[in-house]
Amino acid sequence: MPATIVIGAQWGDEGKGRVADWLAAQSDVVARYAGGDNAGHTVYVGKTVFKLHLIPSGILHEHVVCVLGGGTVINPVNLLREIDEMRALGIDVTPERLIISTRAHIISPAHIALDKASEQARGADKIGTTLRGIGPAYMDKTGRSGLRMGQMLEVESFADALYAQIETANAKLARDGCETIDPQKSAEDYIDAANRLRPYLRDTTQYLNKRLREGARVLCEGAQGTMLDIDHGDYPFVTSSSPTSGGALTGLGFGPMYVDRVVGVTKCFSTRVGSGPLPTELSGDLGARLRGTGENFWDEFGTTTGRPRRCGWLDTVMLRYAVQVNGFSEMVLTKLDVLSGFDELQIATSYELDGQVIDFMPVTTAEQSRVKPIYVKLPGWKEDISTVRQWSDLPEAARAYIDQIAALCETPINTVSVGPERDQLVHRGQ
Ligand code: GDP
Ligand code: IMO
Ligand code: MG
Repeated sequence: MPATIVIGAQWGDEGKGRVADWLAAQSDVVARYAGGDNAGHTVYVGKTVFKLHLIPSGILHEHVVCVLGGGTVINPVNLLREIDEMRALGIDVTPERLIISTRAHIISPAHIALDKASEQARGADKIGTTLRGIGPAYMDKTGRSGLRMGQMLEVESFADALYAQIETANAKLARDGCETIDPQKSAEDYIDAANRLRPYLRDTTQYLNKRLREGARVLCEGAQGTMLDIDHGDYPFVTSSSPTSGGALTGLGFGPMYVDRVVGVTKCFSTRVGSGPLPTELSGDLGARLRGTGENFWDEFGTTTGRPRRCGWLDTVMLRYAVQVNGFSEMVLTKLDVLSGFDELQIATSYELDGQVIDFMPVTTAEQSRVKPIYVKLPGWKEDISTVRQWSDLPEAARAYIDQIAALCETPINTVSVGPERDQLVHRGQ
């Protein structure tokens, strides 16, 4: 059936890139529907490690056409850099293989400066953004003063509009005592980018609907994660887009009748970069153990910013919420290999909030910061499982851990990953 959506079930960096890479093999089109180059999706193919920020992971499969949908925000200069990096790694990125929506909004240098200024002004309450200009670009979009990629087709009026947008931003930056942007230099850079990107621009809504009507299999590759959603995440410590499953439809412009599979990707523990609540966060040795020590290849450091990720036990209160918000038909559990060696594992099953036990995610950030997780303890396993390829070869304790999560979330888990490489996936029943 036609459309599958891959969603980050937690706070981002769940391993969506590697899961999308697996599903892309069975897809005709892979489309990003929200966010921008704040994303960092790591995919291992043989000895090469690809770090994708905007280009969908499907680009690594020759038969796949990739789409950047209207719900995305695009920094044209960074996109061109990524295209060049992919080409240097031998990946064919041409207008036949990458189609960019004329409706997608443009991130300008002014948005990046405003992102930085806003974070500085917030001081200790900063969001911890990726400083890619995401928030200000979406603010201009919803404020109806944004620039769309389609405007690049008419270079002169585009340059004028960009110039005006930067001048407006400069007035604010100057008022706030921040460094301003050179509008002339920005306009020149963006005109160069427009000239190169023009062949890639197209009405992707028409394209996707035509392909779907013809029976093509479309994979919607989510970026960020459920708790970073502007509506459903722990506001204000969120991104400015809709990474959840509804966002796939608004971001790409087709109807829900095409969607028959919604795959939630979750790590087998919790991580978060940036500020905001992380109820199961572990400090000290346990947190460091999950993060990786530097000798371990699973190091939890942001793909886009290099920041260390905060780590903690798996939180099924949060995951049950993600199941509700997204309607997962299944979940894929990543990084199971990282849990080898623990004597005991813990999974949060409910919270205590102000003396009351609750089994749902409270709404406010203040409440989320006050909850005390209540854990169920499970036995760990000692074996290295990175070479396991058959479900039945997983240690019994690992299978019990997976089944416990599936039961707590009332959602099937039929695929787990035991390492970052393409073949390090284990499917139930195999
Ligand atoms: P994404 O943003 O959701 O695509 O996730 P990232 O790529 O930012 O972060 C996931 C990290 O975990 C990457 O470094 C992956 O290579 C790595 N990874 C994914 N699956 C596994 C796994 O099963 N085991 C290990 N050890 N690493 C994994
Ligand atoms: P992928 O697709 C993890 C986080 C930032 C910050 C908040 C807002 O790799 O999972 P923004 O720059 O979007 O305004 O930052 O969102 N964030 C991510 N965290 N993975 C991501 O993407 C993220 N994209 C944004 O750290 O807390
Ligand atoms: Mg990432």
